[in-house]
Amino acid sequence: MSMDGKIKLKADHLCKTYFSKKRDFDAVADISLEVKENEFLVILGPGQCGKSVFLNMVSGLEKPTLGEVCIDDEKVTGTSEKISMVFQRMAVMPWKTSMENTEMGPRYYHISKKERRKTAQGFLDMVGLEGFEKSYPRQLSGGMKQRVGIARAYTAASEILLMDEPFGALDAQTRYAMQDEILKIWENNKRTIIFVTNNIEEAIYLGDRIVLLTKRPATVKQVYDLSGLPRPRNNVSRAFMDIRREITENMDLGLE
Ligand SMILES: Nc1ncnc2c1ncn2[C@@H]1O[C@H](COP(=O)(O)OP(=O)(O)O)[C@@H](O)[C@H]1O
Ligand SMILES: [Mg+2]
Repeated sequence: MSMDGKIKLKADHLCKTYFSKKRDFDAVADISLEVKENEFLVILGPGQCGKSVFLNMVSGLEKPTLGEVCIDDEKVTGTSEKISMVFQRMAVMPWKTSMENTEMGPRYYHISKKERRKTAQGFLDMVGLEGFEKSYPRQLSGGMKQRVGIARAYTAASEILLMDEPFGALDAQTRYAMQDEILKIWENNKRTIIFVTNNIEEAIYLGDRIVLLTKRPATVKQVYDLSGLPRPRNNVSRAFMDIRREITENMDLGLE
């Protein structure tokens, strides 16, 4: 990722306070960042620091108390068809098949069913689910369900994919496999990705850059540029271990 790429998305001083009669609760203090077109940006922060609240503001699902989001230099209010979200849980509808889940993308309501299905099939093949089109989520493993969620996000033709700890519920082996999978998918079909995790190793394995957040209320603590670490990354290499130690020492605990 060159450092001179076009800015795809900009978060400008995003803040979120939940107001209540008892006491106000600050979830996100102040986050500003820029994501370049086709960049794989990782947001890393401790549990409960405000990562999901931040991502929900970027997606337009949640209204910021202060600050704004710009996509392609235009201010966005509310949701945008340029953005799709891949969640950790509830990624797929249990009563729909892999194909039905994948072709749900909102951009596709105006095109023919046949064409929509063809696009969805292409992305199901891409994530390795050929032959599982008619399976229901209960018939799929955790990793396969996540791949349906990814195929759906791609089918929605969104330019920006937001991923909120998408592999957090998976066992360690599946998680490693999915990390390789998402990199492969992204390298073959580049999108702008904002990937949220609380896992330092996962962040270093995946990111072009890492934005490290503080504990709640979240703000940017440091940005790490990993463009000097070629992929596929070796998580026991000297360079990997060095950056891992540096981030570990710099990362807050999530505890209050
Ligand atoms: N709608 C809400 N009302 C009040 N508090 C909330 C709401 N949504 C999230 N929070 C609180 O904001 C804090 C940050 O939450 P979250 O962003 O989900 O953390 P994480 O970094 O683990 O994703 C948590 O303490 C959570 O309870
Ligand atoms: Mg979260």
